[in-house]
Amino acid sequence: MNRSGKIGIFDSGIGGVTVLSEIIKILPNENCIYYSDSKNNPYGDKTDEEIIQLCDNIVQYLIKEDCKVIVIACNTASAKAVNFLREKYTQIPFVAIEPAYKMVHDFAYSKPTLVMATKGTMESEKFNCLLKKYDNHQTFLLPCMGLADKIERGDKEEIKSYLENTIGLYKNKVENVVLGCTHYPLIQKEIQEVLGQVQFFNGASNLAKRLKDILTNNGLLNNGEGKILFEDSQNLKEKEKRFFMILERLGGTNEK
Ligand code: DGL
Repeated sequence: MNRSGKIGIFDSGIGGVTVLSEIIKILPNENCIYYSDSKNNPYGDKTDEEIIQLCDNIVQYLIKEDCKVIVIACNTASAKAVNFLREKYTQIPFVAIEPAYKMVHDFAYSKPTLVMATKGTMESEKFNCLLKKYDNHQTFLLPCMGLADKIERGDKEEIKSYLENTIGLYKNKVENVVLGCTHYPLIQKEIQEVLGQVQFFNGASNLAKRLKDILTNNGLLNNGEGKILFEDSQNLKEKEKRFFMILERLGGTNEK
């Protein structure tokens, strides 16, 4: 592992762009490779075994591509596979996203909270430990079946009616919203349109800080050109185009 290696980052699709954009903001000189597993998404309804196998294959690929650290930019994959991956690949650090429920505990404990995540994340042992540890006793859990997939496809009308029929029930009941899937920050505006004024919690910027600390403490910070490579398991050019458009909109750099 050397400092000129890349940051490897993956998600079931392009949702992890919301994590990558935060990484680029504080680590602009790192070269990154982003892997989108569109062939196998969504991950939200898959079994633990299926997700572990998919993540294992992606990690092998990223290691071959000379990654010095791997970011799991998918809450579902983190919840189900990070322990396995850390045990199997002891030579490489993993940084894993999780629903920002601790942030609610630290900054807005007294307010009613809606946690939105995939069914897989919500049923996972990892998320349930987090919930137990930071429970504010006014938390509503909403497994958003199929939502990540709709965002991945970018279907605005479908997203709008899905939100009205699901989170619409929590209007005037919650003040905090945890975006527990990396796709959801992409529809923050649409969520706000249904729920009105709420405070959003998203773990991406804290993950980026943790990643920077890990690179610093291990002497792995690079002073490279900040190149961003995109790989998709179906090699979808349309997806690549959308990914870089969103990255630019979120304030990340464009393809170099
Ligand atoms: N972005 C993934 C997450 O954070 C989406 C999961 C899926 O593909 O269903 O959970």
